[in-house]
Amino acid sequence: MADKILRWGLLSTANINRALIPPLKASKRNRLVAVASRSQASADSYAHQWKIPRAFAGYDALLNSRDVDVIYNSLPNGLHAEWTIKALHAGKHVLCEKPMAVSLAEMDAIQDAARQTGRVVAEAFMYRHHPQTLKIKQMLADGSLGKLQMIKGSFTFMLESAGDVRLDPGLGGGSIWDVGCYPISFARMVAGAEPLEVFGWQVTGQSGIDMSFTGQMRFPGDVYAQFDCGFASPFHSFMEIVGTQGALNIPVPFKPGKKEKIYFSHGNKTEKQEIKGQELYIGEVEDMADAILLGQPPRISLEDSRGNAATILALLESAHSGKPVAL
Ligand SMILES: NC(=O)c1ccc[n+]([C@@H]2O[C@H](COP(=O)([O-])OP(=O)(O)OC[C@H]3O[C@@H](n4cnc5c(N)ncnc54)[C@H](OP(=O)(O)O)[C@@H]3O)[C@@H](O)[C@H]2O)c1
Repeated sequence: MADKILRWGLLSTANINRALIPPLKASKRNRLVAVASRSQASADSYAHQWKIPRAFAGYDALLNSRDVDVIYNSLPNGLHAEWTIKALHAGKHVLCEKPMAVSLAEMDAIQDAARQTGRVVAEAFMYRHHPQTLKIKQMLADGSLGKLQMIKGSFTFMLESAGDVRLDPGLGGGSIWDVGCYPISFARMVAGAEPLEVFGWQVTGQSGIDMSFTGQMRFPGDVYAQFDCGFASPFHSFMEIVGTQGALNIPVPFKPGKKEKIYFSHGNKTEKQEIKGQELYIGEVEDMADAILLGQPPRISLEDSRGNAATILALLESAHSGKPVAL
């Protein structure tokens, strides 16, 4: 099994595929063999453009192919659970784009399907595999920051296209699902726990989804987190982690590249730490191969994905009710 080459199929012609295609083509243990689209013409033209050997009309046709081992689910958020579950039952392993699901019932159904089929399924939070994130986790584990106190973060950009699926409430639209999921995921990873309580405020757009969202999370041990996200301000993203002995400023937390810098303050000094990174999306591809071929647990567990969805849902509930929500 360890020598097998995994054959991947792209579920849709989504824009984000272009981030995964180069690492799939570069990897020795993975091979991109197919793409599916809702129409044959679109699948054919995509396959031609990206030099993908097979093009399927309709997603079921890809899932039914015996020549595919792993599905990359890059559908709109509201379709993730349905097609991840179908793919698992068709015997495929699945790397599913974030957020893996937009309700806890969907998350539970994915967990059931993974258990029943014994297939690997993981959420595509690519930043979790990058050397910068691993370095930050190491600094937290070795106590460089002292006792954790506060985590802050942001992810915003201008969403300019009126027809974007991110604006559609029926397809899991909204800025907290699209980009807020990153600082929330990052804060939960740093805290090493699920929040006990959250509070959220949102500004909604014409379709009813949140165009911007601001939230707070209270974690065990008097650790607090604040974040904001949105579709209505220029690109802005950062994370900060403050402990009793040190503070970390992370200017590029979610899409780090091959060379990054983080800033570590302790006493009255701020040190620049240089990080030798890697191609951002290779990590999630190799993590899937480790899980499928070597039997290692994926770096992002389904419990972790469920925790992120539960936190987002609680924040949305708080924004609707105007009250704090306990988890
Ligand atoms: N990890 C990252 O860095 C990152 C970055 C961007 C996006 N994402 C995630 O990736 C996913 C896709 O995002 P994207 O911006 O790449 O999406 P997109 O370009 O809008 O593509 C979504 C694809 O889904 C298919 N689709 C099926 N039913 C659809 C419907 N009712 N309406 C629209 N499209 C439908 C279409 O493919 P066919 O026409 O071929 O069937 C479409 O090309 C989202 O979950 C998003 O959160 C992740």
